Amino acid sequence: MIKVQNVVKEFQHGKISFRALNDVCLEIHDGEFVAITGKSGSGKSTLLNIIGSLDAPTLGKVIVDGSDISLFNSKEIAHFRNKKVGFVFQSFYLEPSYTVFQNVELPLILAGGKSKQNKESVIAALHEVGLTAKANEHARNLSGGEQQRVAIARAIVNDPSYILADEPCGNLDTANSDNIMRILALLNNSGKTIIMVSHDMVDVQKAKRIITMSDGRVFSDEINSIKEAV
Ligand SMILES: Nc1ncnc2c1ncn2[C@@H]1O[C@H](COP(=O)(O)OP(=O)(O)O)[C@@H](O)[C@H]1O
Ligand SMILES: [Mg+2]
Repeated sequence: MIKVQNVVKEFQHGKISFRALNDVCLEIHDGEFVAITGKSGSGKSTLLNIIGSLDAPTLGKVIVDGSDISLFNSKEIAHFRNKKVGFVFQSFYLEPSYTVFQNVELPLILAGGKSKQNKESVIAALHEVGLTAKANEHARNLSGGEQQRVAIARAIVNDPSYILADEPCGNLDTANSDNIMRILALLNNSGKTIIMVSHDMVDVQKAKRIITMSDGRVFSDEINSIKEAV
């Protein structure tokens, strides 16, 4: 479970301090599929980055499974980012010269995994995103939709509890977006907690709960009553 408690994030713009997040409070339970939406600049990415320990709040706390992540030492942060959460970004961030297999194996190598077990985990993750047949292709030769599926396989290969996705379909056409959303829904059905930032209302409607941000605050937080079947 994730508890965001009175989180404030200030950025310095020259001499002026700007509040990107202003007293945000949220609870996200295990197994939820949450979309965070709102206009550009409303603080969505800042909030997701703080939940994933990629950035630290100016004030307030994020408690994940009972631990205040701001109190983690560098080893605990590395473990948290590698094992507890899986990140998916708009720009995929694959290593273009590596094969699909090597890209997905990277988090396992960082975690010190043994190569035989790594292989099984990579194959299982590629199976989940339907890319087993592309394992030996170089990432740079794949389409955008395929690259994002590799990024999802890389995000799930360490079997994290939480998947944090920031505009995962932002660079994709409708057909590929639908495919990514279907994969996220399947992962949610298999027990993963998904937190997805998106400003695309078609994608947002596939989540079970919709949090709307406005000017650094939670503007609304609703159970999705018109969830589409995916
Ligand atoms: N590293 C940063 N330094 C300064 N300002 C930032 C930084 N990151 C985000 N901001 C500002 O904080 C606000 C919220 O940004 P962001 O969370 O990226 O919004 P969103 O993802 O909703 O578009 C914006 O006004 C943005 O310019
Ligand atoms: Mg953003």
